[in-house]
Amino acid sequence: MKALCWHGTGDVRVDSVPDPKIIDQRDVILKITAAGICGSDIHLFNGFQPAMEQGDILGHESMGEVVEVGSKVTKLKKGDRVVVPFTISCGECYFCKKTLFSCCDTTNPNAALAAEAMGHSPAGLFGFSQMLGGYSGGQAEYLRVPHADVGPIKIESGLRDEQVLFLSDIFPTGYMAAENAQIENGDTVAIWGCGPVAQFAIRSAWMLGAGRVIAIDRVTERLQMAREANAETINFEEDDVHERLMTLTKGRGPDSCIDAVGCEAHGTGTFETMVDTATDKIGIHKDRTYALSQAIMACRKAGTVSIPGVYTGAADNLPLGAAMNKGLTMKMGQTHVQRYLKPLLKKIEDGEIDPSFVITHRVELNEAPAAYQTFRDKSDGCVKVVVTP
Ligand SMILES: NC(=O)c1ccc[n+]([C@@H]2O[C@H](COP(=O)([O-])OP(=O)(O)OC[C@H]3O[C@@H](n4cnc5c(N)ncnc54)[C@H](O)[C@@H]3O)[C@@H](O)[C@H]2O)c1
Ligand SMILES: [Zn+2]
Ligand SMILES: [Zn+2]
Repeated sequence: MKALCWHGTGDVRVDSVPDPKIIDQRDVILKITAAGICGSDIHLFNGFQPAMEQGDILGHESMGEVVEVGSKVTKLKKGDRVVVPFTISCGECYFCKKTLFSCCDTTNPNAALAAEAMGHSPAGLFGFSQMLGGYSGGQAEYLRVPHADVGPIKIESGLRDEQVLFLSDIFPTGYMAAENAQIENGDTVAIWGCGPVAQFAIRSAWMLGAGRVIAIDRVTERLQMAREANAETINFEEDDVHERLMTLTKGRGPDSCIDAVGCEAHGTGTFETMVDTATDKIGIHKDRTYALSQAIMACRKAGTVSIPGVYTGAADNLPLGAAMNKGLTMKMGQTHVQRYLKPLLKKIEDGEIDPSFVITHRVELNEAPAAYQTFRDKSDGCVKVVVTP
């Protein structure tokens, strides 16, 4: 089959690779009909995620048609149309039983490597480095889906692929980010980033009772898309974000702050930015905490900072003292996607949201390498790319 493979920093290619096979009788094989490119893929593309190997197949936002079924799979059959969570979870361990699916204890075959870096291993993830399981991803013609009775959700209504694909990741991620923000009715929520995850966080914050949503980015089309969801916006290149937030909240600060940017945050001309650019050039990538630091500094006392943005290593210069002394709550993590599939599918079926609003680019698999660049550079008005193999 054809698949999008990682070959090094800034180098992804469509290669011919062996078709996936059933390895465990709880697997199914999907023929992929649609796959997203995520901001997390850009961290892999840009070399921020350790333990990537030449030839790793990327992609963790996948959907398609079941074409092969392991003998122990009971809930799916050939021909079923499913969306696949990016988290691979067993459904049986201590963490899965608590619906903490991204913390599944059993699905990372390279758990020792992850535990060395993080103390414990999180769940295996599709297309996300050897450290997180070495599972082939779905930016390909076919995908092996382990634990098929636990992850995939069957789509039985007439909803189009583009309306349900993002149940695999960014809709649940934006929603969990808003839940983690502990929003109380009427609260002011500030969101760093207006990328795809942030777009869903904005809409989810409204669903969860926010009274005001303020979104921060520098990319015109993305700020515009945030305003279309009734967010007030701040362009961090034109305005001093902290000052603006204090003015907008009469000095108190937002009740909840969401960092939907993650480890590749852009600074604004500071010394650190220069250092980051220099270290990037020589291939040393360190987590950049500009957005998170601003969120901590701006958040009101005893407020909540929610972090869906991905970090991969250690961070310098994080204002931990501010977080501690202001009594902030910080909640974060890879999304427990399986927990959100049914309730969020219902919201789509009920017409409360049509997730396809975020799509700006549709490409075939052989155009995916160019689409990685367009999405990374945020050129051509690109907010979200869907690949159809
Ligand atoms: N927790 C999870 O399970 C999960 C799931 C999906 C994605 N993610 C992560 O969420 C983050 C966002 O993903 P995305 O797909 O929206 O990515 P994206 O890269 O398209 O969006 C990030 C946005 O942040 C903006 N930005 C950069 N620096 C900023 C700053 N200092 N202040 C404000 N905005 C700034 C960029 O202009 C961009 O629009 C990534 O880190 C991704 O890895 C996490
Ligand atoms: Zn993702
Ligand atoms: Zn588990």
